[in-house]
Amino acid sequence: MLTVALPKGRIAEETLEIFEKIFNKKFIFEDRKLILIVDDFKFLLVRNQDVPTYVYHGSADIGIVGLDVLEEKELDLINLLDLKIGKCKVCIGIKNEDELDFSKPEIKVATKMLNITKKYFSKRAMAVEIIKLYGSIELAPIVGLADAIVDIVETGTTMKKNGLKVTEDIMNSSAHLITNKNSFYTKKSQILNLYEKIEAII
Ligand code: PRP
Repeated sequence: MLTVALPKGRIAEETLEIFEKIFNKKFIFEDRKLILIVDDFKFLLVRNQDVPTYVYHGSADIGIVGLDVLEEKELDLINLLDLKIGKCKVCIGIKNEDELDFSKPEIKVATKMLNITKKYFSKRAMAVEIIKLYGSIELAPIVGLADAIVDIVETGTTMKKNGLKVTEDIMNSSAHLITNKNSFYTKKSQILNLYEKIEAII
């Protein structure tokens, strides 16, 4: 049995479609159920940001998660394959009428991605005060909570609708297949078998 952590939402749906294609049968969660067992697979439906945690602690052998979440978590995991779904970018956004003022002694940046943000600005030797938020990040510059945001941009609609523009891209992201060292050792043939099947159809 392989336990697979999936992030609730579209990536879970698209991943299950990949499984349906490979195994030619239905993989559908019953309404509100968080566990689905089909043959040798047990799927766990978890929050996006929690996928690496389930895999790292061995509650799941493998997981599907955005590269941005993987970067942010900084856990010792094995990144096996880019599924090329859930494509998005992590960007810096500011108000349309603003410029990022590098001469300011300290810039306030709102984000839910603390580590990615810290790393990016420290590489550039820029002093930033990071304000941790859990969602609706685009609101922060509008109400004066922050000068800039670091956030996910998929279609760009949320920024546009809220009068923000992208000033810089920090990284590209898409959903990746991950595993932990222990599962990769003890269930290597099952994991590689699945890896090959997925790789063949994406
Ligand atoms: C994400 C992200 C942006 C939005 C980007 O938010 O934080 O707000 O999607 O998508 P777009 O470029 O297609 O408009 P999410 O929907 O996960 O909600 P959140 O604000 O609660 O994080």
